[in-house]
Amino acid sequence: MKVVLLLFACLLQVDSANILAIFHFPCKSHHILGSTLLKALARRGHDVTMVSPFPFKDPMENYTDIDITGMLEYKENHIVPKFVASHHSTMYDKMTFSIKNAEEVVELFLINPNIRKLLNSRKRYDLIILNWAMNDALLAIPHHFNVPVIVFSSIGSSLLTNKITRNPAPYSYIPNLFVNYPNHMSLMQRLNNAFWSIYFEVLDCFVNEKIQKKLLQKHFPNAPPLQDLINNVSLVFLNSHYSVEGARPYLPNMIEIGGFHVEEPEPLKTNLKAFLDAASDGFIFFSLGTNVKSSHLPKEKLENIVQTFKKLEVKVLWKFERYFENLPSNVLVDEWFPQTDILAHSNIRAFVTHGGRLSTIEAAYYGVPIVGIPFFSDQEYNIADSVNNKYGVKVAYEELSEQSLTMSLLEIINNPMYRNNAKIKASILRDQPLKPLDNAVYWVEYVIKHKGASHLQASATKLNWFEYMLIDVTIIVITLVLLLFISVYFAFKCIINLLKHMYSKQSKKVKQGKKRN
Ligand SMILES: *[C@@H]1O[C@H](CO)[C@@H](O)[C@H](O)[C@H]1NC(C)=O
Ligand SMILES: *[C@@H]1O[C@H](CO)[C@@H](O)[C@H](O)[C@H]1NC(C)=O
Repeated sequence: MKVVLLLFACLLQVDSANILAIFHFPCKSHHILGSTLLKALARRGHDVTMVSPFPFKDPMENYTDIDITGMLEYKENHIVPKFVASHHSTMYDKMTFSIKNAEEVVELFLINPNIRKLLNSRKRYDLIILNWAMNDALLAIPHHFNVPVIVFSSIGSSLLTNKITRNPAPYSYIPNLFVNYPNHMSLMQRLNNAFWSIYFEVLDCFVNEKIQKKLLQKHFPNAPPLQDLINNVSLVFLNSHYSVEGARPYLPNMIEIGGFHVEEPEPLKTNLKAFLDAASDGFIFFSLGTNVKSSHLPKEKLENIVQTFKKLEVKVLWKFERYFENLPSNVLVDEWFPQTDILAHSNIRAFVTHGGRLSTIEAAYYGVPIVGIPFFSDQEYNIADSVNNKYGVKVAYEELSEQSLTMSLLEIINNPMYRNNAKIKASILRDQPLKPLDNAVYWVEYVIKHKGASHLQASATKLNWFEYMLIDVTIIVITLVLLLFISVYFAFKCIINLLKHMYSKQSKKVKQGKKRN
């Protein structure tokens, strides 16, 4: 009997897979995305393991954390201060800084003792989900375990994801992450976009990939060439959606799951609920996300923000870690607020945000117009998108003053256009055949079931760059056309010579005839 039960249990286990997720980047928002997906997979009965610097204190059943300590200190000391100070830096500095910084993070990750232990373990996995942040070298890990890999992009599609699947992204209508243009670009914008896109592509090819190849050689000397690892990726998850980013071409292994992390609202705590319910003129929610701390902002800017709040008639919820003396009575400050539950509240009028991808998608999901103060990474891009689509306004951090912030807030609160556009976004984002989280779970199981699902890959991955760009074909066509021209030229030349010859013969005859006469 026991044996039968055991057998039965084994049969049931077929559907339960071992899934390893690597969300090494020391950014809380990346972990929120990754752990939301993993928790859903654990609830489906899969055995999941999460590698991140943010282990849960009390993880759920079937969910194991592998802690990579040391990453957070690195971020606090090296990444955030430089990013906040990077406003005046040039495009080149911004791009190379991201690359350099990504290199150090990968290096730090690979020398971590827990990662060494993981790589030396004999544990078997069925799938690896890898967060994508200029860490191409880490594709050696799925190769090491000999399993399919899904790449997860927390900022949606970009050159960095498109190069994996060879997804088409024409410069004529897909704006680069580093320019802040609408999808429909003017001539000058297309010129700029083409320039920066090519520039970034060259930088990725000659700086980033070179670094990644070096890391690969150093830490995984037996791994195949980097390009083979990149070509072997099964699927790419994009944390984006066409309701927010606009329509783009995607190959069948590029899956948009934007909005998957947004949970249904839960009841608010009593005191918070009372504060917001009583806001008959509405309230604004002010949060600069998990990275920017008060210590990163100068006193003067903070003073500007408080003065703005003081003049507003609406109430203000301010997510911030410092408690100020004599704050205006319409302001409630706390280190943490349940963001989605607040965005779901019917009295909300505006969301002041740094423009991180999670926050902008959450605002879109609940139809809340935004005032964006972008700092770094994709924040500029996300905020530009809200401005271009008229559901948000931007306040540049350098120009953040009492006046500029007040004006932007009043514009968003008093002009119904922004709110209406935000509501339209929300209705499109929510209107999907499958909830984004269920869609993500479906595709994870699909890749496992079909052993890497290589049928989803475009054969573009098997071409090298000159085959892909049809350079070989172009050379043949040009050669043929040239040959044609040359043969026509010589044919004409022959005919003309022949005619000349005949003509001169004839005229000689005529001349001779004349002489005889
Ligand atoms: C854990 O996985 C098992 C099957 O492997 C499943 O029966 C159980 O419900 C899962 N636990 C949770 C909390 O979902
Ligand atoms: C490609 O992925 C498959 C699993 O999908 C794996 O078995 C194979 O070893 C991988 N090849 C390389 C070169 O990484």
